[in-house]
Amino acid sequence: MKILVTGANGQLGKEVIKQFSSSYDMIGYGKEELDITNLNQVISLMQKERPDLIIHTAAYTAVDECEINKLKAMEVNALGAANVAKAASAIEAKMFYISSDYVFSGKKQKPYMEDDSPDPISMYGLSKYTGELLVQHILPSSTIIRTSWLYGHNGRNFVNTMLQFAKSHTQVKVVNDQVGSPTYTADLVKIMTFLLDKPHGIYHVTNLGECSWYQFAKRIYELAGSDPELVKACSTEDFGSLAKRPSFSCLAHEEIKAHNIPLPPDWETALKAFIRKEQAND
Ligand SMILES: NC(=O)c1ccc[n+]([C@@H]2O[C@H](COP(=O)([O-])OP(=O)(O)OC[C@H]3O[C@@H](n4cnc5c(N)ncnc54)[C@H](OP(=O)(O)O)[C@@H]3O)[C@@H](O)[C@H]2O)c1
Repeated sequence: MKILVTGANGQLGKEVIKQFSSSYDMIGYGKEELDITNLNQVISLMQKERPDLIIHTAAYTAVDECEINKLKAMEVNALGAANVAKAASAIEAKMFYISSDYVFSGKKQKPYMEDDSPDPISMYGLSKYTGELLVQHILPSSTIIRTSWLYGHNGRNFVNTMLQFAKSHTQVKVVNDQVGSPTYTADLVKIMTFLLDKPHGIYHVTNLGECSWYQFAKRIYELAGSDPELVKACSTEDFGSLAKRPSFSCLAHEEIKAHNIPLPPDWETALKAFIRKEQAND
């Protein structure tokens, strides 16, 4: 099977290529060679490569910036995903579209099921949800994988930022009223390998358990050997981000359970594994 990855230089794209390369014919394209907003480029590249599956990880992921650059958010996350789906349809390829917990508002305050109706409260969430709708419409055989609070090696993410602060014993203020499930890219990609021969549909894939960003940061400091008391709690209102974020965005794993896919580890086990690997590479 030949698999093409979009957004290959992103944290998830890199992990997909790393894990799948031993078993599949993998090809990754970053933004420089494949700009998903350019339909002609997407179509001609897919015609040339003719993959059996496209794993679409490319996205405009700067959640606050999306509030300023609303058009760009829609162009990349919604129309870009639609371009990839059109190209997939033209060559009869399958597609995995990576989506987000931010398609939900958080008002439910209980884990979201795969068939709960999205109700995004940010431009990023709206653009990712529009991407879901377009992809499902253009390519009904596509699979939507929603994940949350993603971190991986060499990525721009919360864990790496906190690790830098922890190393220099810096005091940080972190919000304590947004609860979700951190997800290690290595665990998400492992589940993707199981999804290759499962029916298309919507799947939620995150590490198990829940925490606030504050609790997550404290654990990162602890595991990095720094003083967790340096992490101070604050409210979302005090922190003052541009984009609204769900106060509770945990995702239920009904579909991976229904398809007998082994559940990923809990978020603390995953975090320990990630930090151990980071420290080994230091
Ligand atoms: N990060 C999270 O917490 C999180 C949570 C839930 C879901 N997700 C979803 O998971 C997927 C992977 O996210 P990630 O964390 O790996 O993000 P990432 O590290 O920001 O990677 C995304 C990649 O897409 C590229 N990209 C941006 N615009 C593009 C365009 N027009 N054409 C082609 N490539 C483009 C980016 O390039 P540049 O950096 O050069 O712009 C980047 O390399 C995304 O679909 C995201 O929405 C992420």
